[in-house]
Amino acid sequence: MGTPINTAAGAAHAAILGVGAYRPRTVVPNADVIEAIDSSDEWIQQRSGIKTRGFAQDDETVVMMSVNASRQALDRAGIGPEQVGTVIVATVSHLLQTPSAATMIAHELGTNKAAAFDISAACAGFCHGVALAADMVRSGSSGHVLVIGVERLSDITSPSDRGTAFIFADGAGAVVVGPSEVPGIGPVVWGSDGEHYDHIRQDVPWDDALEQATSGELAEAPHLVMQGSAVFRWAAFEMAKVAQEALDRAGITPEQLDVFVPHQANNRITDAMARAMKLPETVQIARDIIDQGNTSAASVPMALERMISDGQARSGDTALLIAFGAGLAYAAQVVTVP
Ligand code: UT7
Repeated sequence: MGTPINTAAGAAHAAILGVGAYRPRTVVPNADVIEAIDSSDEWIQQRSGIKTRGFAQDDETVVMMSVNASRQALDRAGIGPEQVGTVIVATVSHLLQTPSAATMIAHELGTNKAAAFDISAACAGFCHGVALAADMVRSGSSGHVLVIGVERLSDITSPSDRGTAFIFADGAGAVVVGPSEVPGIGPVVWGSDGEHYDHIRQDVPWDDALEQATSGELAEAPHLVMQGSAVFRWAAFEMAKVAQEALDRAGITPEQLDVFVPHQANNRITDAMARAMKLPETVQIARDIIDQGNTSAASVPMALERMISDGQARSGDTALLIAFGAGLAYAAQVVTVP
């Protein structure tokens, strides 16, 4: 036995205290993306639900969008940046290998040297971040944790790739997780199906791209590729079970649920999950994808923010979050709407 080491003591419970979002200024209708992929407005709407998406301009960087979403979340939580103990950024499109986007964001926000790091769990990243944040608040590692989901997928999507060009988009969402007198974040149900590791991925690894660039053979920058229908089937069948398990572990029945905020991957996947879970008609369902597209790690907080702003989700409501994507990684939890 070594010398006893002190441990930290955290809050009894954790909750989401505020939600913010940043939506890119440029709204791009289907008409503007169909030519390069020989598609149609009708096909895109019917297969995915998407009518428009937001594409970030040069000044709408990962950091800028994150800082804006975070300021809104902090304001709504009534928390100053100096109270933030940790900044967690979920993203796959911060195109600087190191340092993390989180350190830059923590600095721009004016935190007091907050711990800051990025996590890579693709579209599921935000729900992973919320799970980490809740555990950190309860364990005493941090008083308040800022969790950001942010993407500039337009930077890593080929406009001529039929399987991805119409679906992926840009934006940021953020939440403040902090101490609470009552439980506001239920147990996370998370995991990975690594046998489908290659279903959504960057087509050429950076080391190969570098070699090709050096020898003058690089035809185009590496971009995302997706086996869309395989991912669709996996998500539609497997994710409803994960969502149900998150409800069960939180002790919530579908009848007690007010709001369902699935990753905005495809409206038809959302429909399939809602049907499989037999969600009552009273449950409000996020449909942010229709005008924001699929913003990967940003989609759940952006969709939640929209529902709160529109009055579809009210303070005290019980919401089920679930996100899934490349890896294939997934995470789900029940939360109370702040
Ligand atoms: O966010 C991370 C997780 N991602 C997801 O969950 C996305 C999951 N996947 C999807 O949402 C869907 O697979 C897509 C929306 C990407 C595609 O829809 P789909 O119904 O799975 O289309 P498909 O790839 O099975 O193709 C159906 C048909 C094919 O034609 P035939 O063989 O039936 O004649 C394709 O050639 O649609 C054709 N097609 C297109 N047509 C117009 C494929 N891509 C396009 C296109 N425009 N962009």
